[in-house]
Amino acid sequence: MNTPVEGFSKLSKSEKIDWIAANYTKNPKQSKQLLERYWNTDSTVQKLHDEFIENTISNYYLPFAIAPNFLINDRLYAIPMAIEESSVVAAASKAAKFWLNRGGFKTEILGTEKVGQVHFIFKGETERLQQFFNEIKPELHSNTASITKSMEKRGGGISNIQLRDLSDKIEGYYQLHCTFETLDAMGANFINSCLEQFAKTLKEKASSYSGFTEKEKAIEIVMGILSNYVPNCLVRAEVSCPISALNGDNIPQKEFAQKMVQAVAIAKVEPYRAVTHNKGIMNGIDAVVLATGNDFRAIEAGVHAYAAREGSYSSLTHASIEDDTFRFWIEIPLALGTVGGLTSLHPLVKLALEILQNPSAKELMQIVAVAGLAQNFAAVRSLVTTGIQKGHMKMHLLNMLNQMGASESEKLQLVDYFKDNTVTNASVKEALEKIQSN
Ligand code: MEV
Repeated sequence: MNTPVEGFSKLSKSEKIDWIAANYTKNPKQSKQLLERYWNTDSTVQKLHDEFIENTISNYYLPFAIAPNFLINDRLYAIPMAIEESSVVAAASKAAKFWLNRGGFKTEILGTEKVGQVHFIFKGETERLQQFFNEIKPELHSNTASITKSMEKRGGGISNIQLRDLSDKIEGYYQLHCTFETLDAMGANFINSCLEQFAKTLKEKASSYSGFTEKEKAIEIVMGILSNYVPNCLVRAEVSCPISALNGDNIPQKEFAQKMVQAVAIAKVEPYRAVTHNKGIMNGIDAVVLATGNDFRAIEAGVHAYAAREGSYSSLTHASIEDDTFRFWIEIPLALGTVGGLTSLHPLVKLALEILQNPSAKELMQIVAVAGLAQNFAAVRSLVTTGIQKGHMKMHLLNMLNQMGASESEKLQLVDYFKDNTVTNASVKEALEKIQSN
């Protein structure tokens, strides 16, 4: 039986590897070799990765790919994507190409507001708390001056601080609901620093406020933290074309357009479908978010909350047919940064941003929204025409062949063979065995 380890974080990297390999793997020597094989040969790069997080023992690779030919607001982009799923980049590229000759993607920023809250407990009269808040509000601002100075110089900062009464939900529960403009930064550190200062000022000022009773003076701070729910940090991306231009799927154009609209309508009202529909959107979004060094967990959490904002989980994309024009669009909250965090640290993130022509956070929001829309278009288009398995299994073929231990020449032959044959686990196995027995 394994025993707990003391002071694991203090062990050297090599000692950590020895410990994990010896205690938790069947073949410690092989495991150790594997972990070391994934180290970067450039020790500077490796050190950088080691220091991103605690207890690093190796690197975990994801493919870094490019989906080219995205025409966004009349500018051409090649979009970097970090993702493991076989068909995602191919689908994105296919959608980009489809819309390239139909006017491309049009996007618009609808808002850039970030949110943070100080949650606290106040046992007393709400009116007196409101009066106190009104009086100390200027100090809430002025006490953060050292934190906000450089952000303000660039045109950002704290946009608003509001007192909210939630005591009908939890006894004595109030909050400072604060909004921020963080420009090209995702802003988590800036926001959290401001919130912690607000909390400090709130507590200190309350303890000596003459308008409070002794009980009211004892405001209890629960926590100050940014919110990843950013419904007003919103971007819209759209494609549209005459129905007559929707050719290329071996089904009549009008029928295709109607099926697309129907598929989206289903995802709007049926949460089981909406979750998978939106998962397809996140295939595109997460891949670009990850490649550009942004926090995909924050994006995921905020996007899904937004998809459920009307009380039932629903589609993030919309489709319509009006006057013989097919329109397909997305509105999605994306709090992204192009400065700070990993953006200037991770060499591949820096390169991804360079490939995107060093976008501002607003531009990156638009690019990411487009990646999500394109991915959804490609997925729903396959679903309502050929089904997804044909394309998906084709893309998965190499994974299957690698798993079955096929040689390079066997892979070449079989990729060619499966251009005209249906890919299933059984058919690939059979075809490989046939070649190997010859
Ligand atoms: C698979 O990763 C994503 C899809 O299931 C999305 C969808 O169903 O719309 C194809």
